[in-house]
Amino acid sequence: MTSREDRERYIVEAGYNTFLLKSKDVYIDLLTDSGTSAMSDRQWAGIMMGDEAYAGSENFYHMEAAIQKYYGYKHIIPTHQGRGAEHLISKILIKPGDFIPGNMYFTTTRLHQELAGGTFVDVIVDEAHDPESTFQFKGNIDLNKLENLIKEKGADKIPYVCMATTVNLAGGQPISLANLRDVRALTHKYGIRIVHDMTRVAENAFMIQQFEEGYKNKSTAEIVREICDLTDAATMSSKKDALVSIGGFLALNEYDVYEEARNLVVVYEGLHTYGGMAGRDMEALAIGITESVNDDHIRARVGQVMYLGRKLEAAGIPIVKPIGTHGVFLDAKKFYPQLTQDKFPAQTLSAEIYLDSGVRSMERGIVSAGRNKITGDHNYPNLELVRLTIPRRVYTQAHMDVIAESIEYVYADREDIKGLKMTYEPKYLRFFQAIFEKL
Ligand SMILES: Cc1ncc(COP(=O)(O)O)c(C=O)c1O
Repeated sequence: MTSREDRERYIVEAGYNTFLLKSKDVYIDLLTDSGTSAMSDRQWAGIMMGDEAYAGSENFYHMEAAIQKYYGYKHIIPTHQGRGAEHLISKILIKPGDFIPGNMYFTTTRLHQELAGGTFVDVIVDEAHDPESTFQFKGNIDLNKLENLIKEKGADKIPYVCMATTVNLAGGQPISLANLRDVRALTHKYGIRIVHDMTRVAENAFMIQQFEEGYKNKSTAEIVREICDLTDAATMSSKKDALVSIGGFLALNEYDVYEEARNLVVVYEGLHTYGGMAGRDMEALAIGITESVNDDHIRARVGQVMYLGRKLEAAGIPIVKPIGTHGVFLDAKKFYPQLTQDKFPAQTLSAEIYLDSGVRSMERGIVSAGRNKITGDHNYPNLELVRLTIPRRVYTQAHMDVIAESIEYVYADREDIKGLKMTYEPKYLRFFQAIFEKL
């Protein structure tokens, strides 16, 4: 624990950017659910069985078998984490001048698409951009937006539709299987692939089980498989759903694309049977995949997020509705209505929460959205959010109570807040390393 006086110093030293705080100075860490979950006793036992052979590690084959069994994809390329897989698929499938529709952007995914010469186009339903909308499947793709884009640009300019389960930047919002089936039918009609960002597919499957008609009696594992079977390829950051500290993969059904990826992975990640992962980490991942689709686990995991969300809602704190699966997202525009977006309301709020209690959160608003690649101006997303991301199997209900209490204090003190100005802006993914000063 730290004192308010300590934290005043630490946040200035970190340039009001919670990514630049030292973890020892953080009390409850809600920066991300990425690689921060607790591994089980079985996973740790798996770590002891690492086969660190350079080529053909036994652990690779265990991991490959788990991916094929639970997700159903044919060919697997390990990568050090999700963005490694995004890099490979973007490099292989995107040509300069192409367009990549997606259900809202994700920071690293969009950047890899742009670096390959493509342009990302948001085709998510309008409800996703409205924090007040209680539509249950805000991750859904708007079929009209997608078909209009295909007609306008031509199917040959669209190498794939990028479809995420769940949608992180929208507040952890799920897609429905009905929508995915429609997207599949439309993409089949035009001969376009679906690449699935399956980072939180088990959480998405749980929401389908809870809220989509006809899925009450299906297991999370069955629903996960149904989702994957409707797509052609997948990028995975295993650091979330799959309960490991590091790792990811690219999964493919087309042999030609696989062959190219298997060759390219050697250049950027490592040989195709480790791709930047240690053998022991591949073993932990194989076990984590099995645990991630366990219904009791996923109910407890999403249930804890819901507990925090409902507590904040009851206290009148403006949050994104419905409550998402991996975190609760605070609506910073409503929290600080006196701040225009260029005063970085979410960045400010994240710093204020840290100052109050040592709870670390993350900005998901104008800073994360970056700049328009043509005009150079800030992108101004409708959603200006602070993400309170809950690691899996780490914190207790009492921690959730402390977090809620702190946010209530910060809300009570909201009127005097003046915002921030950015004094250093890195070229890529600026939210990670940007520096701010108090206005
Ligand atoms: C939806 C989504 N896609 C992709 C990624 C990128 O994965 P990684 O951080 O493992 O590179 C993340 C993680 O931050 C994510 O949340």
